Amino acid sequence: MTDTRQPSDAELVERVTAALGTVIDPELRRPLPELGMVGEVTARDGAVTVEIRLTIVGCPAATTIERAVTSAVEGVVGEGNAVIQVGVMTPEQRTALTERLRGATRRMPFGPGSLTRVIAVTSGKGGVGKSTVTANLAAALASDGLNVGLVDADVHGFSIPGLLGLVDASGRATPPTRVGDMIVPPRAHGVAVISIGMFLEDPAAAVAWRGPMLHRTIEQFLGDVHFGDLDVLLIDLPPGTGDVAISLGQLLPNAEVVVVTTPQHAASDVAVRSGTVARQSGQTVVGVVETMSPVVLADGSTLELFGSGGGARVAERLSSASPGTEPVALLGSVPLSSVLREGGDTGSPVVLGAPADPAARALRAIAERLSRRGRGLSGRSLGLSPR
Ligand SMILES: Nc1ncnc2c1ncn2[C@@H]1O[C@H](COP(=O)(O)OP(=O)(O)O)[C@@H](O)[C@H]1O
Ligand SMILES: [Mg+2]
Repeated sequence: MTDTRQPSDAELVERVTAALGTVIDPELRRPLPELGMVGEVTARDGAVTVEIRLTIVGCPAATTIERAVTSAVEGVVGEGNAVIQVGVMTPEQRTALTERLRGATRRMPFGPGSLTRVIAVTSGKGGVGKSTVTANLAAALASDGLNVGLVDADVHGFSIPGLLGLVDASGRATPPTRVGDMIVPPRAHGVAVISIGMFLEDPAAAVAWRGPMLHRTIEQFLGDVHFGDLDVLLIDLPPGTGDVAISLGQLLPNAEVVVVTTPQHAASDVAVRSGTVARQSGQTVVGVVETMSPVVLADGSTLELFGSGGGARVAERLSSASPGTEPVALLGSVPLSSVLREGGDTGSPVVLGAPADPAARALRAIAERLSRRGRGLSGRSLGLSPR
């Protein structure tokens, strides 16, 4: 037996909505609902009214779209029972549309196959000196003549602009230059830098974003900021294994990862975990940097404020966690240094401002080890495919 009862208005709305999903915008080549071009769909006594929002006033494809919509709707409700109201998107709706379109087609210039070495710096906890290490490595590599970019991916706790002197007297970070819709990153000490701090009016403003917004921001930093051709892109990650680390793993599975830790044994577990999470997305842990390490004082004694041995221990544990891969080396230990700390406070990286300081020497040596590692191409994709 066939169902001969008339569909209810609610059923009509449902069927018409489904039918609209088959109408493709002739220019953007996607279904109208996906483009946000379908407004309200209402039904009353078997007649259906559909709101269509064109992208711009006088849209050249308007007639074609209206005809296609009419025929799709009439296919459900029958001729004469469809009213199509054609309007235009609000500026907000249009922005949302362009964002969505770009998101779908954006390429990731630093993703797999990129000739730029991407080095993400991570740590288990905050306050261990990760950003200080990142900023100094960037400055050291740039002073060696490399083209260096730095993405401050610590959106909630950004500190890179301050560490590199990209702030004015009120603490406001230097905004990037915009050329059309292209973002040109400011440079400091030869490093091209982007940070969320550069987009905030009030330097003390809190950024309270959750996963999707964070993901979008990282994606934009990597895709929309014009870094030009870089030899190395350093990324200062937030501490731990949260949303940003996961997003970065998805966007840049080709990244090399440096784990920063203090000498304290209690810090090892979380540091190892951050390396493990990086590996799960395919990233390679290339080494461990210990900082706030024991320092030799003027009287010859050694001050171990945060204990000792943590860096070696993390390197060992990361090596044994992944047998068969290249062992994870302790790239170096950066001793406690008030000169280093002051350099950070004044925006003058110690590797440039006080190169003779033991912390500066250690950071230089780490930068050299890292760049040596990049010279051989073993294990790296050349992005070439056989003909
Ligand atoms: N080796 C070190 N000696 C002395 N102070 C350090 C050292 N490394 C970092 N610091 C200081 O510790 C604080 C936290 O460093 P930061 O790089 O911001 O850590 P994180 O990015 O891990 O949160 C800063 O004030 C910094 O100057
Ligand atoms: Mg930091």
